[in-house]
Amino acid sequence: MRRQPTRRAAGSGQQDGRDDLADYITIEHSPALSGRVVVAGAKNSVLKLMAASLLIEGVTVLQNVPHIADVEIMGQVLQALGVKVSWTAHHELTLDGRQLSSHTAPYELVAQMRASTAVLGPLSGRCGQARVALPGGCNIGSRKIDMHIAGLQALGAEVRIEHGFINVEVPPSGLQAAEVLLEFPSVGATENLIMAAARAHGTTIIKNAAREPEITDLVAFLQEAGVPIEGAGTSELAITGTTDIRELRHQVIGDRIEAGTFLVAAAMTHGDIEVEGVNPEHLDVVLRKLEAMGARIERGAHTIWLHDAGDLKAVDIQTLPYPGFPTDMQAQFMAADAIAQGSSIVTENVFENRFMFADELGRMGADISIEGHYALVKGNTLLSGAPVSSPDLRGGAALVLAGLVAEGTTTVYDVYHIDRGYEDFCGKLATLGARIKRHSVPG
Ligand code: UD1
Repeated sequence: MRRQPTRRAAGSGQQDGRDDLADYITIEHSPALSGRVVVAGAKNSVLKLMAASLLIEGVTVLQNVPHIADVEIMGQVLQALGVKVSWTAHHELTLDGRQLSSHTAPYELVAQMRASTAVLGPLSGRCGQARVALPGGCNIGSRKIDMHIAGLQALGAEVRIEHGFINVEVPPSGLQAAEVLLEFPSVGATENLIMAAARAHGTTIIKNAAREPEITDLVAFLQEAGVPIEGAGTSELAITGTTDIRELRHQVIGDRIEAGTFLVAAAMTHGDIEVEGVNPEHLDVVLRKLEAMGARIERGAHTIWLHDAGDLKAVDIQTLPYPGFPTDMQAQFMAADAIAQGSSIVTENVFENRFMFADELGRMGADISIEGHYALVKGNTLLSGAPVSSPDLRGGAALVLAGLVAEGTTTVYDVYHIDRGYEDFCGKLATLGARIKRHSVPG
């Protein structure tokens, strides 16, 4: 069955401009997954490292860069600003930021990917001005940008919202260090502020900073580039600004969410797999939840093994900022809870409106009731294959996982969401034994 084309409203946070009649994925009920899979570099890290290259009047080389759609979009944003972006080896991206030609991140690109707003901080620091389209709403909630703006204002920038753009003007004396207390440990606001502070005069203190491993990777990158930063991995960061930010080569950390997605897939299918290329500490709470569900986990330095240990037991999930349970793993666990023994409550504390996936899973027979930011998942469901649409990146991946255990054929549409953050998702799952096929529809 082919769906009719549906154009999304620009700025809806979806990949507007892409053909919704593009590729789709079919999944048949699959055997227990087994074997080894290597995860790519972390999407949420590389996008910010690419933005941070704007701070460097030289060449940045990033290694372990995933081939995903969001990297391409961030590359286009940087190119629009004058950075020369090229793939120089497999998984290696070279960013030449010696000469910038613009300080405007255009609407067409920002509307496709909210993370484009990560250029606000580094552009303000480097150019003294930035003009970035307002990202608008998105399919996992309104996702405000007020803390990014308040942080830049605290550093002395004048910020105006005009004609759908965020306009930042830095006084001729440059950004000045400040003490900033974030109301909530926002990942994006913390990152933008770190990058702006890297060029400010003096030492900026960020209190209640987000502590996600991707932020620690950004801090490591900037430290290697010569920016003194204290407090890496903690909720209080001290960044001393400098104009002497040097060229560097940096290896992106492994993607904990991609790793977690494969682990849940294995657990759901009674599988036995090895996931390589990720720091198990970055997944601590996720691994503990998998253990609570009944899986047996072994941790290596950069490897995680999951062994089947019988039927899954339902677990409650409560998303929180790191080191709490990641919101980006919520949908995958909801899919696992739907087939596990018992009932569970999933509480989404980070984003509003991140339960759209539950409706699609309901089409496959799952029994999920939503009340505000709580979802009651009644387990023991034998899912049945159905045509479903990816509501967002992680929801799309979770529908594929549901398809692995559903009776019959599941067809997942709106695959472009999955392409945003997973490199060769189908290919990797197929290597593990999944009966999955991607159908390419010529554009
Ligand atoms: C990043 C990740 C995303 C992850 C999320 C939480 C990237 C590209 N994306 O998104 O995958 O799910 O962290 O771990 O790295 N908020 C405000 N005002 C602000 C900023 C945020 O109210 O100025 C709110 C948001 O609406 C949201 C919550 O804070 O409800 C968390 O947002 P934030 O941590 O900033 O997430 P992102 O950086 O957008």
